[in-house]
Amino acid sequence: MRLITPLRAVAGWLEARTGLGAAVTPAATHPVPRRTASWWYVFGSATMTLFALQIATGICLALVYVPAADQAYQSLQYLNEQAAFGAYLRAIHFWGSNAMVLVMTLHMLQVFLFGAYKYPRELTWIVGVFMLLCTLGMAFTGQILRWDQDAYWGLGIGASIAARAPVVGSTLVHLLLGAPIIAGRTLSRFFALHVFVVPGILIALTGLHVWLVLRLGVNEWPMPGRVVDRETYRERYEAEVHRDGVPFFPVAARKDMIAMGVVILAVLVCAAIFGPNGPHGVPDPTITDASPRPDFYFLSLFALLALLPPWTETVILLVGMPLAIVLLLALPLFASTGEKSWRRRPVAVLSSLLIVLVVATFAALGVMSPWSPVMDAGTALATPVTYVQDRSPLELQGALVVQNKQCRNCHSLGGEGGARGPALDGVATRLTRDQLIRQVLQGGGNMPAYGKNLTPAEVNALVAFLETLRPSNQPPARAPEGARPVARSD
Ligand code: HEC
Repeated sequence: MRLITPLRAVAGWLEARTGLGAAVTPAATHPVPRRTASWWYVFGSATMTLFALQIATGICLALVYVPAADQAYQSLQYLNEQAAFGAYLRAIHFWGSNAMVLVMTLHMLQVFLFGAYKYPRELTWIVGVFMLLCTLGMAFTGQILRWDQDAYWGLGIGASIAARAPVVGSTLVHLLLGAPIIAGRTLSRFFALHVFVVPGILIALTGLHVWLVLRLGVNEWPMPGRVVDRETYRERYEAEVHRDGVPFFPVAARKDMIAMGVVILAVLVCAAIFGPNGPHGVPDPTITDASPRPDFYFLSLFALLALLPPWTETVILLVGMPLAIVLLLALPLFASTGEKSWRRRPVAVLSSLLIVLVVATFAALGVMSPWSPVMDAGTALATPVTYVQDRSPLELQGALVVQNKQCRNCHSLGGEGGARGPALDGVATRLTRDQLIRQVLQGGGNMPAYGKNLTPAEVNALVAFLETLRPSNQPPARAPEGARPVARSD
């Protein structure tokens, strides 16, 4: 009792100076439609709670993480193995991100099926779509910060896809990676995006989203036959809320708070049981038996790209994805009135079901599909004898490099080997020495860059060997007019 009085005095003093209580109380206790005090309406606040958890754990992780290419991996290992609660923190951040994407998806589905995006809440939906994109951006950039095999390969594939964009391709790659290849600057760039840029935008959008929800009111429970009409909607909503509403706090907020507790608990339990994710292996472009899998939210896209013929990748990414985003953004504009209830919107229900099924199926396929058609093919294959007969010692050395670096995981020789890259049999008829050197050093087009993982002598031998790969009746490739030759070092 004795403590209460001075506390009250302090609270009273703060309130007298700031007036925050008076400003917040009406927002907290504003009436909402009675039936929205429902479990269906808890996903938004649950997503926000998970976001707060991500910020808190993210700040703790950033205190230890070193965003430098040669130390990031070690700093994660240090977190995993030595730092107090380090592994648990990483686990919470990882499971929290999974939970956030999942609960946010549920929130979007609920909003879609309840017609909550219709007049006058179109902008709330549009802001929400941008929040979805930001969250996926957080997921993608976060995955890169793990800076392990998966991150390296995932990014390499992502970059080579970006490179296919017409005209702006190479600029896009440069913008993404900070260099023509994946390097230290790439990590700095993704770190800045993950801890400053995207979360900053996401916090601002969250504020706007909540403001819009407060201003326009929580969507009423949709009733079949009660159609949205621009002329009458607002008046009817106000009347219903004042006749039959309940105060948001504490009545409707009770279930929200329980849901917040449940999702946090679920994340803490998952983190304790399953632990952190990775890091999986030091990034090394010469190890191709890695089996890179993106985190689950990108699995379906990954499977789609892995399973469809390569030419469709460009179409899917450059046409399909922007189209999907534009459709999502435009949804409340072309369907802003009419029925809200899912019982009268079979197309909406079926398309939601279809999308969920397709995404889930592809995600399941993504878990099972090999990431490259014949990934384990070349490892143990001996180089066919005809390819090493009558070769100079230098060329034979090059054949050994092909063998040791397992180029045939992706390339075939004599019809055997992987199919991710073109067969190397006649490569000398297609590429000049300069082009061969560039391809090996810089990679590109889904091929890793070997620049840092081969000594100049190895490159020299390798290219000498590749230059012998042509049928004897066909001439070697000729350099285009005006190309500068590379000085031979042997
Ligand atoms: C992860 C799979 C992968 C590995 C491993 C790989 N490559 Fe490639 N490589 C590719 C792909 C994909 C292409 C096609 C690039 C393009 O379309 O621009 C390619 C292209 C090439 C080309 C140009 C072929 C042409 O006809 O245009 C050469 C030469 C080459 N690779 C050599 C090598 C050598 C040598 C190694 C081993 C040191 C190697 N590759 C390892 C995937 C790989």
